[in-house]
Amino acid sequence: MKRVLVLDFGGQYNLLVARRVRECGVYCEIKPYRISMDDIRAFDPAAIIFTGGPATVFEPNAPRLDPAIFELGLPILGICYGEQLMIHQLGGACRKATVREYGKTKLTHDGTSALFAGIEPTSVFWMSHGVEVERLSPGFRAVAATDGCAYAAIEDSARRFYGVQFHPEVLHSVHGTEVLKNFLYRICGLTPEWTMASYVNEAIAECRAKVGDGRVLLALSGGVDSAVAAALLYRAVGDKLTCIFVDHGLLRKNEGDEVERAMRDTLGMQIVRVDAAERFLSKLAGVTDPERKRKIIGEEFIRVFEAEAKKLGRVDFLAQGTIYPDVVESGVGGESVVIKSHHNVGGLPDHVDFKEIIEPLRRLFKDEVRQLGVELGLPETLVWRQPFPGPGLAIRVIGEITAEKLAILRDADAIFREEVAKAGLDRSVNQYFAVLTDLRSVGVMGDERTYDYTLALRAVETQDFMTADWSRLPYDLLDTVSRRIVGEVKHINRICYDITSKPPATVEWE
Ligand code: XMP
Repeated sequence: MKRVLVLDFGGQYNLLVARRVRECGVYCEIKPYRISMDDIRAFDPAAIIFTGGPATVFEPNAPRLDPAIFELGLPILGICYGEQLMIHQLGGACRKATVREYGKTKLTHDGTSALFAGIEPTSVFWMSHGVEVERLSPGFRAVAATDGCAYAAIEDSARRFYGVQFHPEVLHSVHGTEVLKNFLYRICGLTPEWTMASYVNEAIAECRAKVGDGRVLLALSGGVDSAVAAALLYRAVGDKLTCIFVDHGLLRKNEGDEVERAMRDTLGMQIVRVDAAERFLSKLAGVTDPERKRKIIGEEFIRVFEAEAKKLGRVDFLAQGTIYPDVVESGVGGESVVIKSHHNVGGLPDHVDFKEIIEPLRRLFKDEVRQLGVELGLPETLVWRQPFPGPGLAIRVIGEITAEKLAILRDADAIFREEVAKAGLDRSVNQYFAVLTDLRSVGVMGDERTYDYTLALRAVETQDFMTADWSRLPYDLLDTVSRRIVGEVKHINRICYDITSKPPATVEWE
């Protein structure tokens, strides 16, 4: 399969570039711009994309490329910093922009470039730059401009070098995907052949080859990634895989049973389910500090997991549901280093005796993981599950955790989720849940005064969970949820809707 190399210069949209290329059905990987020419040749790309980045191209320490990259005879698309770098290194010049462009900007192309084939002459693209091309390198010409930028798109079609000052990967660029498709299909001659249906057999073969006769151990968390990793490995190596599902009693309503059913009944896999609810509850008794809660749960999880793993004897591989954004963000894949603030519970136990880690999803984006899950026959309810934090409901019961509070929250949260799904919003709202606050207030039910808990509802829309906007859920939906919860769940007499975005708030309350 032909593949594209995305060279990362540290820009904020770099993962998006790779995601969009994959969405066009072309496999690509992100590598740091420092990659050696030998490694580039070994990767054997069909085309190269340079991403944007925060550096100023004419400053002394700005990232540069080995000029040999321009002699490979491969098509290149430079985006933002990528465009500037290409021009800078090929004999042209850049300068501080006379007009700093930021945001949605009208662009007009001259109708002569394959990059804009089939795209209306004037449309909106996303700009974000303070540097611009001043003088083109020999062989290049301008093919599109905005009011503030004469070289919004440039090309040297003989060498198949293209540059865009805008960000085609950002959804605000109305025809951004078409520009990428034009580059990949028309200019590079690539065809969309990367789909999960075509990848599934390759992935199975890869796992089989790696595992051989070994035994694999995997911790199921109830989330999408570990479930898909388990389904894939099970297809590949069957009963050589053992899944341990530590039920810490902090899952949502019926969730533990659903996971077990999906694995056991739908896929036929045996899983070891450990009911550790009491153990976790007793460790958490009286604890109110959120970070202490996280720490206790993380440690306890590892203890329970280890104890179960020991019973299995020799294990060769520990499987993990690491996905591509984690790989890139940890600095291994690309240049953009994002410090992750959360690690999933189910993180690596130190003391289990195994030879190697196996991460069968480490090349996949989240949406690809979901598609793979569907290909592998996992139920849609599991595959489309919203993100759920490792410490579970423990960080959604504010203050001290008790079995009673967990039960109240579980019932209320289930109603909220049911109604969001009924309204058809369960895939467009990225995360939505209930929080049991520690606050009690006065209410009146029938003729009686009540003094009960206040429940908060939270729903957010986000691309990456680093920032998030509160979801404008319809009032009618909120009304139905509020009536149902107060009517059906004992000890809740007041409901609030959280209308803060992140930042300044976070998605979770704790
Ligand atoms: P915050 O609250 O930081 O959440 O805005 C961002 C995303 O991370 C999830 N989250 C966690 N996930 N362990 C996890 O595995 C945690 O301790 C944790 N805390 C927050 C949160 O649900 C949201 O999706």
